Amino acid sequence: MKVFVTRRLPKTVMGRLEKANEISELRVNPHDRVLTRDELEEGTAWCDILLSQLVDPIDGALMDCNPGLKLIANYAVGYNNIDVDAAIERSIPVTNTPGVLDDSTADLTWALLMAVARRIVEADGYMRTGKYDGWAPTLLMGTDVHHKTLGIIGLGRIGFALAQRAQGFGMHIIYSDLEPKPYAAEVNAEYIDMYTLLRKSDFVSLHPFYDKKSHHLIDEREFKQMKNSAFLINVSRGPVVNEKALVKALKAGEIAGAALDVYEHEPKMEPELAEMDNVVIVPHIASASLETRTAMGNIAVDNVLARCRGDALTTCLNPETAG
Ligand code: DGY
Repeated sequence: MKVFVTRRLPKTVMGRLEKANEISELRVNPHDRVLTRDELEEGTAWCDILLSQLVDPIDGALMDCNPGLKLIANYAVGYNNIDVDAAIERSIPVTNTPGVLDDSTADLTWALLMAVARRIVEADGYMRTGKYDGWAPTLLMGTDVHHKTLGIIGLGRIGFALAQRAQGFGMHIIYSDLEPKPYAAEVNAEYIDMYTLLRKSDFVSLHPFYDKKSHHLIDEREFKQMKNSAFLINVSRGPVVNEKALVKALKAGEIAGAALDVYEHEPKMEPELAEMDNVVIVPHIASASLETRTAMGNIAVDNVLARCRGDALTTCLNPETAG
């Protein structure tokens, strides 16, 4: 089978693809950038199996470039870049990489939360620019994290892993979700409706599944419910937050700050965010540790090889396409 990889993956993962006897030809994006639509179409038309990234829009029109396409293996747990219904219509299986990035994503969420609360990025800049001229009682005062209230919107695997970390800081944990989660008791998390959560939380962390229903889940109205002293953390998907409304809320002092890994129109962001000291911004790196990105790659490769051999796919999102 011919496999097209839309962006080079970690070394050991590429090694597995390069050595696999099941793969007759391997083509890898030669550029260190996201493919253009034309390049993506050309690669899709050529291959049997597409190993895609979350930044590649995989819609029905792209699938139609190749009526013989046998698998779309997405290198991400999120798959909002793929029109799974269109894949079902065309009987193309789609896989993702669940279960291996929960802890890394929760670690980064925690790092962002700490960074924005304790002004780490600002303080680092302060030192680097030679501003520090001695200890002072009110220099770079931040906000305590321990014993505060953490509101988790979406207590899935990542939200749960975040709650485990928050427990170590003695936080009061509340969460909202479509329904109460039986495992919430393990982390002492209290189920509450989203608007009460917004009103009570000192830190609001977003972990919902992204779809039409969670698009702009946090908008002007929701910011107005939050405490003026509260912080928003988003490592889920950018469009869960109306980014213009976020800028407005920050400017109006409706919330105290924000820490973001994802953006509404990635890779772009509202330029004003970069001007604000009470905002920490990182480029969608929540799962970016060597171990985790390798584990994600291994799941994608397992699926690619399973498809080549005609075996069952380990993480198929649309099992109705099997057969
Ligand atoms: C995902 O997998 O969906 C993350 O956003 C990137 O690891």
